[in-house]
Amino acid sequence: SKADIGLIGLAVMGSNLALNIAEKGHTVAVHNRTTSRIDDFVATAKEQGLEEKVIPQADLKAFVDAVAKPRSIIIMVKAGGPVDDMIEQLLPMLDEGDAIIECGNSLYSDTQRRFDYLKPKGIGYLGVGVSGGEEGARHGPSIMVGGAKEQWHNAETVLKAISAKFNGEPCCAYLGEGGAGHFVKTIHNGIEYGDMQMIAEVYGVMRDGLGMEPKACAEVFRKWNQGPLNSYLIEITAHVLDAVDDETGKPLVELILDKAGQKGTGVWSAIAAQTLGVPATAIEGAVAARSISSRKDEREAAEKVYGARHAGKADISLEDLEKALLAGKIVSYAQGFAVMARASEENGWNLPLAEIAKIWRAGCIIRSRFLDQMSAAYQKTDTVNLLMVPDFIELMKQNHGALRKLVAEGALGEFPLICLSSALSYFDSYRQAQGTANLIQGQRDFFGAHGFEIVGRGKDLHGDWPSTLDN
Ligand code: 6PG
Repeated sequence: SKADIGLIGLAVMGSNLALNIAEKGHTVAVHNRTTSRIDDFVATAKEQGLEEKVIPQADLKAFVDAVAKPRSIIIMVKAGGPVDDMIEQLLPMLDEGDAIIECGNSLYSDTQRRFDYLKPKGIGYLGVGVSGGEEGARHGPSIMVGGAKEQWHNAETVLKAISAKFNGEPCCAYLGEGGAGHFVKTIHNGIEYGDMQMIAEVYGVMRDGLGMEPKACAEVFRKWNQGPLNSYLIEITAHVLDAVDDETGKPLVELILDKAGQKGTGVWSAIAAQTLGVPATAIEGAVAARSISSRKDEREAAEKVYGARHAGKADISLEDLEKALLAGKIVSYAQGFAVMARASEENGWNLPLAEIAKIWRAGCIIRSRFLDQMSAAYQKTDTVNLLMVPDFIELMKQNHGALRKLVAEGALGEFPLICLSSALSYFDSYRQAQGTANLIQGQRDFFGAHGFEIVGRGKDLHGDWPSTLDN
């Protein structure tokens, strides 16, 4: 008999997804360009007692024929060119109504292009964001589906079965046409960058401002994990801070080089925010912080020029640090969701914001108690910006004072808080009815006659500016 679904690309994520599918009782045909990977996979499937649900095929055509029609074929290859190559190879072997389901971290505009390319050929294209790392792929990731809706219905049972569950509800949903799924995954990652950076900034204050050892920091994060900050990232932070290096007996975190890697999704979300005209300063700050971190040589040279920061004392309590982190997090999520709302309008996606918060409650890297609160709040309102959603207005009122205190301490104590301070500045700008862009408009009119508006008098007015200047 034929397989319920096919999967191409048996690197770690692909293999784990395939094992997850088999474990949920669905037959999966598998293929990989390097055939030794197929053998390794079959051996693993045997060890886990799942070989009966696996149909290995080293030949691509035989693989396609092994999948029941209309076919759903997951491709899990490197993002970029390899995805396009795979599509071209598959195309002549597929029939109308079949679907390619691409599950990598692809750029959403690439996904949109592939969707548009395949649509007139009668082949459905689903661009699917999968979050949760290797463990998630094996035991239940969060799955963000975009693309061809009819073909989603063919794959729905399998994708929902393998997804994480929150209170029994699958963390897997269809979010919109074209590149919608990969767009949402990109913003998920942007938010992930923000969460990680804000946690790292708070760790910096604990280490340099409060003189805390990693073990003591870990203890605090463990405690916070019992409260409103309860989340996967806070939990793993405690473990990272706790780990000891076998060779030296020192805290591992102190031996790890302070240069952060990045593979692109954070940058894509910052670019999307800017292109859409939606401020996402927390995500932008987090991306900038990773870039600065990677310039270790420059930082070392600059420290010699300006002197080491005073390993000063930060006058802030752990309670305030916790509250500050919560306030920063609210701003960051408000920004990320506002970007999605705008992208949804722009692309006609109709992104369901409450549903997105729901499918992020389990399985993905940013899973948290916070997202449960957030999905509940979004379900009750049409308001797009989280800062204006009733329950979160209360939370923000209770916690922005602590964020303010932290940012002030950071400035005076010379602790960099690029992400948390930009979150605060955004909040202060967002809530300022009378801003300062009146001056910008005056300047623009001065040098470029760009015109300004005076309420009650009209638009496109001009000032009578002096023509002789000193500069
Ligand atoms: C996830 C992660 C995953 C991966 C990212 C990390 O949701 O499971 O986001 O997609 O870990 O690629 O991105 P960086 O390598 O850019 O930190």
